[in-house]
Amino acid sequence: AQSAKESLYIVSQYAAAFFVKQLWETEEGKGIGLSYFKERGFREDILKKFEVGYSPDVWDALTQNAINASHKLEFLESTGLSIKNDNGKIYDRFRGRVMFPIHNFTGRIIGFGGRTLKTDKNVPKYVNSPESEIYHKSNVLYGLFHAKKAIRDLDNCYLAEGYADVLSVHQAGIENVVASSGTSLTVEQIKLIGRFTQNITILFDGDAAGIKASLRGLDMILEEGLNVKIVSFPDGHDPDSYMHHVGAGAFKTYLENNRKDFILYKASVLLKDAGDDPIKRAGIIRDIVESIAKIPDQIKASVFIRESSSLLEIEESVLLSELNKIRSGKV
Ligand code: CTP
Ligand code: MN
Ligand code: MN
Ligand code: MN
Ligand code: MN
Repeated sequence: AQSAKESLYIVSQYAAAFFVKQLWETEEGKGIGLSYFKERGFREDILKKFEVGYSPDVWDALTQNAINASHKLEFLESTGLSIKNDNGKIYDRFRGRVMFPIHNFTGRIIGFGGRTLKTDKNVPKYVNSPESEIYHKSNVLYGLFHAKKAIRDLDNCYLAEGYADVLSVHQAGIENVVASSGTSLTVEQIKLIGRFTQNITILFDGDAAGIKASLRGLDMILEEGLNVKIVSFPDGHDPDSYMHHVGAGAFKTYLENNRKDFILYKASVLLKDAGDDPIKRAGIIRDIVESIAKIPDQIKASVFIRESSSLLEIEESVLLSELNKIRSGKV
């Protein structure tokens, strides 16, 4: 007999195919879902590659369909695709949303993100599958299955925030991109990238939340011993919106020309707030040295100390003694 885990994979694959069929072959799917993707500028080949779909705006379309096809309610429930309310009524988790299936890195579908088509601020923009026996959010990177070969070949991994970012960066012809999607970046996700490359380039949103997340992310990446660069986007833009705004060619050039190492990035982000205030500027120096202190490799760390010294116009010896203080836990 088939294991329970295998049944979860099978029902997830079934649901993905159901959502795909709804998107391309039904009036509701084409009229609402497909036209939504088209209005956002997504090409059909990208939509097909990522197997995006549409969940109809009714209570139990998927649940009924799957049960009619002999799938067990038990597995629909344990993947979170179906939910039983307090009165015992069964309904679909995803209703009236465009669907992004999430693959594990061997290509099997393990969960979904569903985006609302409503602009109502009270509706959550994304609903995601819950944790299940096959879906452990903290260990999954959206897009890794489609990116892993390019990540190895190009020896770099672009790391974005969201589903749409991954699709749009692909559409620009750049395939080495993944997203943390639905969770803030985890150590497990960084280790997973580390199996394919030691180089990560962060492409987070150009808003306050994205900047904050990139500062946190870069420290975590350094701590894992990987190399990190950052490309930031104008405020209000994320990789997806910026790609559609400037076009594929200009977007590619932008990524190539705006890659900052973490010291330059931190300096530029933090100096903006500090202005000429000497106390604030001293705080920035400490902040940068704190990131350097996370690098396990001493030789690499000393290279970054030298870079900081010339960039911030501070004696190398001052930075080194600060580094040693942090390392010995005195600060
Ligand atoms: N996210 C989520 N739940 C939310 C909002 C966001 O799980 N309520 C996750 C999604 O994976 C989303 C990512 O965080 O893709 C980044 O969030 P955000 O920047 O707000 O969304 P975008 O990906 O930019 O979504 P879109 O372009 O479709 O508006
Ligand atoms: Mn597939
Ligand atoms: Mn955002
Ligand atoms: Mn975004
Ligand atoms: Mn977006």
